[in-house]
Amino acid sequence: NANTAALSGQVAGAAPQAGEAAALTILYGSQTGNAKGVANQLKAAAEAKGLAVKLVNMADYKPAQLKKEKFIAVAVSTYGEGEPPEDAENLHAFLASKKAPKLDGVKVAVIGLGDSSYEFFCQTAIDFEERFKALGAETVVARADLDVDYEDQATAWIGGAVDAFEPELKAQSQGSAQVIPMAGFGAAPAQSQYTKQNPFAAELSVVQKITGRDSTKDVRHIEISLEGSDITYLPGDSLGVYFLNDEALVDETLALLNIDGATEITLGEETLSIRTALIEKLELTQSYPGFVEKYAQATNNAELLKLVEDKAAMREYIEARQIFDIIKQNPSDISAQDLANSLRKLQARLYSIASSQAEVEEEVHLTVGLVEFDAFGEKHFGGCSGYLAHRAEEGVQVKVFSEHNDNFRLPSDDNTPVIMVGPGTGIAPFRAFLQERDAREAEGENWLFFGNPHFTQDFLYQVEIQGYVKSGLLNKVDLAFSRDQAEKVYVQDRLREKGEEVFAWLEKGAHFYICGDANRMAKDVHQALIDIIKAHGGKDDEQAESYLKELRSNNRYQKDVY
Ligand code: 2AM
Repeated sequence: NANTAALSGQVAGAAPQAGEAAALTILYGSQTGNAKGVANQLKAAAEAKGLAVKLVNMADYKPAQLKKEKFIAVAVSTYGEGEPPEDAENLHAFLASKKAPKLDGVKVAVIGLGDSSYEFFCQTAIDFEERFKALGAETVVARADLDVDYEDQATAWIGGAVDAFEPELKAQSQGSAQVIPMAGFGAAPAQSQYTKQNPFAAELSVVQKITGRDSTKDVRHIEISLEGSDITYLPGDSLGVYFLNDEALVDETLALLNIDGATEITLGEETLSIRTALIEKLELTQSYPGFVEKYAQATNNAELLKLVEDKAAMREYIEARQIFDIIKQNPSDISAQDLANSLRKLQARLYSIASSQAEVEEEVHLTVGLVEFDAFGEKHFGGCSGYLAHRAEEGVQVKVFSEHNDNFRLPSDDNTPVIMVGPGTGIAPFRAFLQERDAREAEGENWLFFGNPHFTQDFLYQVEIQGYVKSGLLNKVDLAFSRDQAEKVYVQDRLREKGEEVFAWLEKGAHFYICGDANRMAKDVHQALIDIIKAHGGKDDEQAESYLKELRSNNRYQKDVY
């Protein structure tokens, strides 16, 4: 990977040979790149102190190497229901297996990335730390569990970890070659100046409903102009989108709390009115335990404080409510500043990009499913999807940045066949793949599996897909309209029906991609794949699993699931 290569090439000439100086091995497991970013930052900070560092993606790490390590730092994210990112799966499993070596005397430090609105927050980091300790290793600093708004905490933890490792590493490296830190920290190539912290104000040019009038869903095709920015992206990348909270809900909330919207508050370095802060800067939809706890403390709310002690009840409580609901159901005397302090910074939402720059140049397209549900007698909308679908007019500016995802990429060889499974809004990155392969006149075969409730209402991008079939770009399309017949039919059923051919494609080198729902669909498709490999490859369960594992380690089985 170009990014890591550029960074690890920075230790000039004098890097010690293996065994010469004690080195800190930084292992990272990243799904979207955030853990990798933290690992890179840790590497730079350690090198700036003259420490020797090896930075390794867990997917490329040979577990047998563990016996030789003395100093290990782990940066790992968690996704889905407490699962490790794919990069980390093997090492995660190895550490819990009988094959794991004793690690007495080894010093470790673990940093986790996650989202505290999920139940198994930073579970993978917790697992790594527990497993290392169980094998005899000692932690040199307390684990940090980073939430979505993690940058400051990451920097603080990195400082502490480097301080803790430094004397130990230097004591072990007495007399061995010194690493000369390079001045500065070179940016990876083709990085935009626009980032999560410094997003680009882009024009929202198109918001078009692409589900039918009678659909149970509301999906929007979104087009955003990147003109005037240096943002670039590849098929497989995501776009971070900031949004504004609903002004009507903000005003209703302020009125309930008897807070004058013009009251000034401070957020970090900034002074602004509480009303502006609630609209533009603070999270008011996606609820999470940390908010309940802070709000309960600030308002001395006994009922809410009880929830803080009861994890299961808390989970149920926040799942049924947006932050607005919790505040509105617990109006209390609270100052504008305390209210602001109890809320976390509004986070951009990440959407898989649905276009290729080879086709749309300075535009970026998204396929956004509107989150909507009824609760407490009112319609509720997702923060960002509600904004895009109902509050943002075409022509307004939205703040965006691109987020690279090297774990979801077309094959580098244009002749390689691909199988794409993307029901619902999971179609998005495959529209990007198809645009890209079309523009490149890639010869490799393309097979799409798509599903949604009804053919007449929910066939997203139907005209384009049919056009691609006609032009020959799409060699095969299999559709699963789940509710068009008495029995539900899903993409995995279509896969099974075509099992023999699916297996033949895998055998001839096809890459297999899944995008969409992580909780059920991706798991069911994975199982269908296992069954197909067993049935048509004459393998047992274990062999089928290792067949898929092999595909995965060759980047031939990739998921973008949420
Ligand atoms: P359903 O809502 O009719 O059950 C996109 O959301 C499509 O995925 C819909 O057709 C939906 O069907 C379907 N779907 C729901 N659960 C699924 C699962 N476990 N595996 C695959 N598709 C699923």
